[in-house]
Amino acid sequence: MLFGSCQPEAVSDDCSVVPGLYNMASFPIGVAVDLVELENNQAYEALLDQQFNQLTPENIFKADALHPGQNQFNFLVADRLVAYAEQENKSLHGHTLIWHQQLPQWMEGFSGTRSEWEAMFKDHIQTICSHFKGKVRAWDVVNEVFNEDGSLRQNIWLEHLGPSYIEKAFRYAHAADPEALLFINDYNLALSSKKQEAFYKLVDDLRKRGVPIHGIGLQMHISIAFPSDDALGSCIEELAKLGLAIHLSEVDISINPYNRNITYNTDLANRQARKLAYLLQAYQRLPEAQQYGITFWGLSDLESWIPSYFGRNDAPLLFDRDYQVKPVYCQFKKLLP
Ligand code: XIL
Repeated sequence: MLFGSCQPEAVSDDCSVVPGLYNMASFPIGVAVDLVELENNQAYEALLDQQFNQLTPENIFKADALHPGQNQFNFLVADRLVAYAEQENKSLHGHTLIWHQQLPQWMEGFSGTRSEWEAMFKDHIQTICSHFKGKVRAWDVVNEVFNEDGSLRQNIWLEHLGPSYIEKAFRYAHAADPEALLFINDYNLALSSKKQEAFYKLVDDLRKRGVPIHGIGLQMHISIAFPSDDALGSCIEELAKLGLAIHLSEVDISINPYNRNITYNTDLANRQARKLAYLLQAYQRLPEAQQYGITFWGLSDLESWIPSYFGRNDAPLLFDRDYQVKPVYCQFKKLLP
């Protein structure tokens, strides 16, 4: 039962914020950043600066932001985040080069021959990778390329370039920035075995053919109800067999996945804490060399994309809407090595 009335024992009694959560971990602890908040909200900036040492731009590195016209790239805003990261000594995770969402209108409406599509695709990837060369640690090169049944998602890239667009994206990115680690990122991999199998096969094939791919991003938009702990654990363990770096890239744990009329309470808080504890422990079982980092998809429940995007009441992150720590934070902190 999801919102049962039995009260589990408290998961952690020690619940204070530590200066430098990231100092407690042997891998980076990341967060999706909203630059508007970072530049205008001192409390946001202070907490983010104090707790996290890797930044994923939540929206400003997406195609619509960086490439608003065919011959127009806009790096002004993104470069402010680069400057912040450099100044504060935080690594940057580039998100994302090739995706089916948040595309500029001109790109969705682009008409051209196959070789014109190819040139546009290559220019998009390489202009962006060259611009950020030496400044980003890694890129999500392709994002969400699979459907739930394991088939490739229909998008403009598949339609105009065929399935080899995936491999080409990695080759073009690598040529433009040979030092950057290149990731494939997707969601629901622990929920759909067909999707997980197809993902595994694709990455295995790319790797065996020498395509420059270095990491797997598991988004981890999960909930207290699903996937099961076993499914989460075995997904991480299975995909790690590919030998690449593993990034838990967009972690949030919904307490209200079925959009019910609920209020946040101790029971839900404890279930959320236990879910993250399980996820962290599964991650810690990986060889250290594969532990690229864990990134939370937002600083606090106030900035989380879930309430506005899905239109529901939720509290999926480490800090509450007043930037106070939640049991999920305390449990996570307690389990860091
Ligand atoms: C989301 C952002 O958090 C929202 O602000 C935006 O409106 C939509 O995109 N998978 C991804 C992320 O790879 O880029 C998405 O981010 C969440 C799902």
